[in-house]
Amino acid sequence: MTTSNIELASDLRKAIRGVVKADEPMSKHTTFKIGGPADVFVDPADADDLAAVVSWANRHDVPWLAFGAGANMLVSDRGIRGILIKMGRPFQRIELEGERLYVGSGANLDKVVSVTTEAGLAGLEYAAAIPGTVGGAIVMNAGTYRGQIGDVIETVSVVTSEGERRDLSPEDSQFRYRWSVFQVDRSRIIVSAIMRLRPGDRDELVRTAEGIRRKRATNLPSGPSAGCVFKNPEGQSAGQLIDQAGLKGTRVGDAVVADKHGNFIVNEGKATASDVKALADLVRQAIREKFGVELEFEVRIVGDW
Ligand code: EPU
Repeated sequence: MTTSNIELASDLRKAIRGVVKADEPMSKHTTFKIGGPADVFVDPADADDLAAVVSWANRHDVPWLAFGAGANMLVSDRGIRGILIKMGRPFQRIELEGERLYVGSGANLDKVVSVTTEAGLAGLEYAAAIPGTVGGAIVMNAGTYRGQIGDVIETVSVVTSEGERRDLSPEDSQFRYRWSVFQVDRSRIIVSAIMRLRPGDRDELVRTAEGIRRKRATNLPSGPSAGCVFKNPEGQSAGQLIDQAGLKGTRVGDAVVADKHGNFIVNEGKATASDVKALADLVRQAIREKFGVELEFEVRIVGDW
């Protein structure tokens, strides 16, 4: 523990209503179960409290980063400087009004798939069993070959770095393959979204989502991971290339290229962020040498490297 982080946390605690912790290990908050401490970790009480956190951070010149389920993050072993903002329970509203879905950014994506398919609404069923929150899925424009979340977005509501609320259109969000403007513009935090779905056959939608869940449970690795490590190169599958290069089972420490899917790195126990990064770099180099293809990270690499 460093005194300054404890002081920073205690100052912030006076300014907001949410829970504030100092030197919080990010390994507790990522699906990889990896990551050093966040200087200050905040669970804002609601959107106004979130705005207060951001204004406070800006006034005090402290960097901040918001995250959801930590399902697509590799946090360095040295951790993250500044304030880590958890988009948790207060942001988990899921409400349907006709074909419109009003959803908080902290809502679990698979739960949203259950609610919408059971209501006989189509447009998100392909996202069954994709780990993470709605906010994270919007940042990543998450999806599969069947569709991506940007396709159903009507409005994204954010809190800006000035602590103000704004509504953005899908055009403002600039959705592309596994990309949205929120990946480069960190001045806005997604708090909720409105999605426009289509009426469909309830039983068929529920069956489709269930089928996808079963398939993912059987075909994808189950250990701690962050899903696919690399984006698919145009017209190719990163997992298939890694498989063809014979890299499955390659390891650095406890970080292993998964047998079930080449684009997953699994933490078999005590893998560090450096192990994962070293393994990913080794894979990139092998794919570059073998196929002349430059793999790009899909996982967000964050913190102090
Ligand atoms: N393949 C192999 N070996 C492997 C992995 C895949 O030969 O080790 C082959 C498969 O047999 C298939 C093809 O490659 O013919 C494509 O594989 P898959 O259907 O698994 O799709 P993908 O393109 O590798 C994408 C997403 C996944 C998502 C799947 C399911 C990306 C980077 N990946 O993977 O998303 O689960 O489709 O539809 O877009 C993630 O975002 O974290 C993620 C895992």
